[in-house]
This record gives sequence, C-alpha cells and structure tokens, in this order.
Amino acid sequence: MKLFVDTGDIEEVRKAAEWGVLDGVTTNPTLIAKSGAGFRETVLKICDLVPGGAISAEVVATSYDEMLREAMEIHSGHDQIVVKVPLIRDGVRLVKTLSDKGIRTNVTLVFSVTQAMLAAKAGATYISNFVGRVDDLSGEGMAAVAETVEMVERYGYDSEVLVASVRHPMHVVESLRAGAHVATMPFKVMDSLFNHPLTDSGLQRFLDDWNAAGLEIFEKSRV
Ligand code: G3P
Repeated sequence: MKLFVDTGDIEEVRKAAEWGVLDGVTTNPTLIAKSGAGFRETVLKICDLVPGGAISAEVVATSYDEMLREAMEIHSGHDQIVVKVPLIRDGVRLVKTLSDKGIRTNVTLVFSVTQAMLAAKAGATYISNFVGRVDDLSGEGMAAVAETVEMVERYGYDSEVLVASVRHPMHVVESLRAGAHVATMPFKVMDSLFNHPLTDSGLQRFLDDWNAAGLEIFEKSRV
C-alpha cells in the first residue's frame, strides 16, 4: 500500500520524506490555507522534497470551464502534480477531459461506492474515499472503501483507491485489510505508526546487555 502524507506543512513533508517510505503528498484548500504560504510555492516545494512522488493539488472552482482553466494551470507547474477534483457533476466531466489528455487526477470528497464508480468510469487515477468524516457522524467510513476496492478490482478499472480523512492508526490497519491501494494521513498518524512499547523496551534491553558486556562494533586497531 502506498503511503501519502496529508499536509501543506513543508517541515512535515520534509520529515516524512526522510523516512524513505513516502510515496506522495495530498493537499486540499484547507491544508494550503493553514500552511501560511502561497499555493504554487507550497506545492512546488513539496514536489522537490518528494522526488517522483504523486503530489495532489486541488482546484477551487466549481464550474467545468473554470475548473478546467485551474486544472491546466495546476498541471503545468510540475510533472509530479496530480489534479485534485471534487466529486460533483462538473468535476466528473473534468476528470474525463483530463484523463483523455493523460493528466492524472485525484477525485476527492467521495463517500459512496456509486460516487466511486463515476470517478472510476471517468478515468480517475486516485479515488479519495473519506473515512474519518463518516465515522464522525457515527457511520462506518471503511465500508465504502471495502466496496470500492472490490468494485475497482471486479470491473478492472485502473483507478487506485485512496483512503483519506484518516484519523488514527486503526484506519491504516483497516485500509490494509480492505486492500486499499493508498492511504493518506496527517503527519502525526504516520509518525505514530512506528510506535510499539515492546520495540522500546526490547531495544533498551539489547543496549543494556551490550553495554554491560563492554562490547564494541568497531574493534580497536591492534598495533
Ligand atoms: O485531504 C482530504 C482528507 O484527507 C481530509 O481529511 O481530516 O479534513 O477529514 P479531514
């Protein structure tokens, strides 16, 4: 499963990229607004920090013609950029246009398998299925992810199912169980994936035993 970090914060991208397991970055208008810097500047810096990664940047217009203009501008910035488009009627139409031109897209604000089907038929590269926002309303966000993975595989669509609106590590576990292709998550969730108390206590014991025995990796040169 690919791991994306969901942020507009350059320092978070830098730290996550250093771990060597980052496949891309997703942004949205809220995250870019929080970053405190300009849209283009932020997205281009992110591209540089994650060489070869898929970097999603979202249109903000809601009519086809305006979204198309924005999409072409966004796409022209860097070949790593994936144009993020909301799952509205004009958005699906835009995704079809962009996919016919070979431009990669990430369809966002997808909550149901029927919405996902529309995105897949239009040729979306990624289908961003939101889970946390559904769970917040006492729903089961992962149910639509599982249905969407099954739908994409059964019908042979090229789209990758991207689990978005991830709130905690259990959403990552469930993404793996569902066979999702990608999970995007806040930096703090990605950081927490490293944690296990037995790793900490186990490492401490190895080091204590090693030090008590006075051992060294680099032997002192014999003269
Ligand atoms: O970028 C899309 C998504 O991951 C947003 O998550 O936490 O605002 O529901 P959230």
